[in-house]
Amino acid sequence: MDDTFITGLPKAELHLHIEGSLEPEQMFAFARRNRVSIPFDSVEAIRSAYSFSNLQDFLDIYYAGADVLRTEQDFHDLALAYFRRVKADGVVHAEIFFDPQTHTARGIPFQVVADGLAAGLAAAEAQLGITSRLILCFLRHLEEEDAFVTLAAAEPWLDQIAAVGLDSSEVGHPPSKFSRVFAAAASSGLKRVAHAGEEGPPEYVREALDVLGVDRIDHGNRALEDPSLVARLVREAKTLTVCPLSNHKLCVVDDLAAHPIAAMLKLGLRATVNSDDPAYFGGYVADNFRAVAPLLTRADMVQLARNSFLGSFLSDVAVNAHL
Ligand code: ADE
Ligand code: ZN
Repeated sequence: MDDTFITGLPKAELHLHIEGSLEPEQMFAFARRNRVSIPFDSVEAIRSAYSFSNLQDFLDIYYAGADVLRTEQDFHDLALAYFRRVKADGVVHAEIFFDPQTHTARGIPFQVVADGLAAGLAAAEAQLGITSRLILCFLRHLEEEDAFVTLAAAEPWLDQIAAVGLDSSEVGHPPSKFSRVFAAAASSGLKRVAHAGEEGPPEYVREALDVLGVDRIDHGNRALEDPSLVARLVREAKTLTVCPLSNHKLCVVDDLAAHPIAAMLKLGLRATVNSDDPAYFGGYVADNFRAVAPLLTRADMVQLARNSFLGSFLSDVAVNAHL
C-alpha cells in the first residue's frame, strides 16, 4: 500500500496514553533537567529493555519511566512532542489518556499534571491545528477509594476532561470493582471508556458496558470469543480502540499477520486503529496502520479512519465535518 495513502488519511487517535509517548531520548532529557537518576546509561539500553511477555511486564517499566516527569513544563513538552510527531501521520484529533495516580503517588500534585497537559493540548491546537480531549484514567490495580480521591482532585479541571477511563493490570480487576466511581463520574457529566478484553475475558467487556456504561471499549480483542457479545457490540455501534503493535508486543496476538482487525471490520464492529504506548511498542498511529496494511483494503483503511471520528467525543457537527 502506498504510504502517502496511509499518512494522507485524516484520522483521530482514540487510544493513546500520554505517558506511553515518552521516548527514551526524552526520558534522558527530563532526567537530566530534573536531576533524577534512571537505571540506564544509554538510549539503546532503554530500548533493549523493551521486550515484554505480557501486560504486567510492560506496566512495570512504564510506571518506572514516568518517574522522570516532574514539572508542568515536562507534561506540556511531552504532550506537544506527541502532537508534533503525529501531525505527519494525518492525525487531526486525539483523545488522550493520562494516569494521574502514577504521578500523585510520587508526590506530584494533580494540578501540575493537569495544567501541564492542558497547556500542551492548547499549544498543539494553536500551532498545529490538531484538536484534542483529555481522558482521566483510573489505575485498576488500586482500590476504588483511590479512584474517588482522584476524581475529587480533578473537580476544578472537569471542564477540561471529556471522560474517565480504566487502565493498568486487567486480570483480577474487573470493571465492576469501579462501578460507584464511574457512576459518580457520569453524574459529573463525564463520558466513560474502559480497557477491557485485552488480557481479560469477554465477561469484562460485558461488565464495562453494563456496569460502567462505557461508550467505547479500549482493545476488546477477547470479545471475539463470544458471538453474542460481538452481535451486541455491532448492534449498539460501540467503538473498539484497537492497538495492533501493542497487541503484538504484549503477546495479545502471536503474529501481526493474523491480527483480528480485518475480521473485526468484516463482523461489522466499529474498530479503530491506535498506538496505545508508541514509545514502548515501536510506532505511532501511522505505523500501526502500516503494520496491518497487508490485511486490509483501501476501503477498510477509509472505514477505520471514519470509525475514529464516529467513535470520538467530538460534537455531531464536528464529526460530520470530518467524514
Ligand atoms: N496503560 C498503558 N497502556 C496500557 C495497556 N495497553 N493496557 C492497560 N493499561 C495500560
Ligand atoms: Zn491502553
